[in-house]
Amino acid sequence: ATPSGSYDTVVIGGGPGGYVAAIKAAQLGLKTACIEKRGSLGGTCLNVGCIPSKAMLNNSHLYHQTKHDLERRGIEVSGISLNLPQMLKAKDQSVVSLTKGIEMLFKQNKVDYIKGAGSFVSPTRIAVQLLEGGETEIEAKNFIIATGSEVAPFPGGTIQIDEKQIVSSTGALELQEVPNKMVVIGGGIIGLEMGSVWSRLGAEVTVVEFLGGIGGAGIDEEVAKQFQKILAKQGIKFKLNTKVLSADTVDGKVFVKAQSAKGDKEETLEADVVLVAVGRRPYTEGLELEAIGVEKDNKGRIVIDDQFSTSVKNIKCIGDVTFGPMLAHKAEEEGIAAVEYLKSGHGHVNYNAIPSVVYTHPEVAWVGQTEQDLKAAGVQYNVGKFPFAANSRAKTNLDSEGFVKFLSEKETDRILGVHIIGPNAGEMISEAVLALEYGASSEDIARTTHAHPTLSEAFKEAAMSAYGKAIHF
Ligand code: FAD
Ligand code: NAI
Repeated sequence: ATPSGSYDTVVIGGGPGGYVAAIKAAQLGLKTACIEKRGSLGGTCLNVGCIPSKAMLNNSHLYHQTKHDLERRGIEVSGISLNLPQMLKAKDQSVVSLTKGIEMLFKQNKVDYIKGAGSFVSPTRIAVQLLEGGETEIEAKNFIIATGSEVAPFPGGTIQIDEKQIVSSTGALELQEVPNKMVVIGGGIIGLEMGSVWSRLGAEVTVVEFLGGIGGAGIDEEVAKQFQKILAKQGIKFKLNTKVLSADTVDGKVFVKAQSAKGDKEETLEADVVLVAVGRRPYTEGLELEAIGVEKDNKGRIVIDDQFSTSVKNIKCIGDVTFGPMLAHKAEEEGIAAVEYLKSGHGHVNYNAIPSVVYTHPEVAWVGQTEQDLKAAGVQYNVGKFPFAANSRAKTNLDSEGFVKFLSEKETDRILGVHIIGPNAGEMISEAVLALEYGASSEDIARTTHAHPTLSEAFKEAAMSAYGKAIHF
């Protein structure tokens, strides 16, 4: 193959990590290309992750609210019905407009977009199998690997995903009919978000979770308990401390075999559709990393140092394919920092201040440490809590489930973690992230004016209660 270009920086993967890194690199004056094999930019997040799931969450919420919640607000509507093909189309439209938007950003910032699958030939050369056919080779001083993650297969091969009846999150975003019964394997973020969507649209949803609580890694246990109660009230059934063993399709139904975590009881659940949401794993297929000596750990993650460099010094790596939480905004921050290291030798990501948000209703959001973390570490802390039921705006909106919880260091009042379950928690958490970044105390927040009447007053009052007393509760 003939070399078709020479670059300062080539990014492999056009997801939130890769495309942001590519734009930043070009903005800093580096000649940059981004290789993406999917045929559209935006990676997992825009194509089959964050964006389509949020489109379905938003619209299924509107449908459910219209059907079950408008009457008590004095709004009479009749003849409400679901047009699922239209809802799926609206989701697809948001995906297309956003992925095309990144192509525009590439053009504006002069990033070369190379459509194809990259595989290393040497630490400075990469071969690309072009989507339009044929192969090319590119040379670069530096590479950034941002190849993301994929659905983890069910361990032991006892469940085969067909994306029709036994689906991953990808298939769960494409169901052409509302299933009567849906079993969700895994009560992590994907299970709860997609379970909520189909439950609101009319499916009877049962979530089977191996652990004793829902919400996945990093959630505060008190929040997780409240979260489960609220979702149960919405109609989702939970089987905790229960491990799924296998699932088989017989005569158009799926039979899910599960066992109590202790191993003493077994049961079989029947479903029309089963969602397998037991995690994701790093994706490096076809990159030929072994050939050039880029190391991976025993979980398949590419090993990096604190400047995002792999074991091959001119190759950096960011996002889901390396360590840390698999979140789009974490990948983006790393993309920027990795490029800054390349350009100037300095970059920074504060891993203590990466928020998590579950986009159910109510939303759940958190940043920093949980109460169980602090207990385990033997840290002395204060808890400040404020319920939305005592917040005027939440009450006027008739949407007042949940609370804000501050955890601050006993001696200094420095904020260590904030956990929110409630309306708009995902937007509200940004204030907590900023507070952590600035090393704020809960008194700093409590003495900051928050507009009235807003949900964010609950945030302020939780801070007040962390170092003293709230006014309204
Ligand atoms: P990816 O987005 O996975 O992008 C990697 C890209 O690299 C892919 O497009 C792939 O095609 C390409 N690629 C791989 N190998 C090659 C190769 N050899 N050559 C060329 N291209 C290659 N995160 C959030 O923060 N908020 C959310 O609300 C959220 N919702 C989610 C919902 C779902 C259903 C799922 C599955 C995930 C969700 N996530 C969410 C997680 C988020 O999608 C990921 O953390 C994020 O996409 C990671 O970005 P990335 O750039 O590291 O990798
Ligand atoms: P997850 O790791 O969050 O949850 C998987 C759950 O499945 C765990 O609670 C685990 O105990 C359970 N489990 C595993 N095997 C089981 C079995 N055999 N039987 C019963 N339960 C079992 O993984 P998930 O939900 O697939 O999400 C993957 C990643 O995608 C998340 O880590 C998150 O980073 C990202 N994501 C983020 C979103 C957001 O930020 N809003 C939305 C969706 C995904």
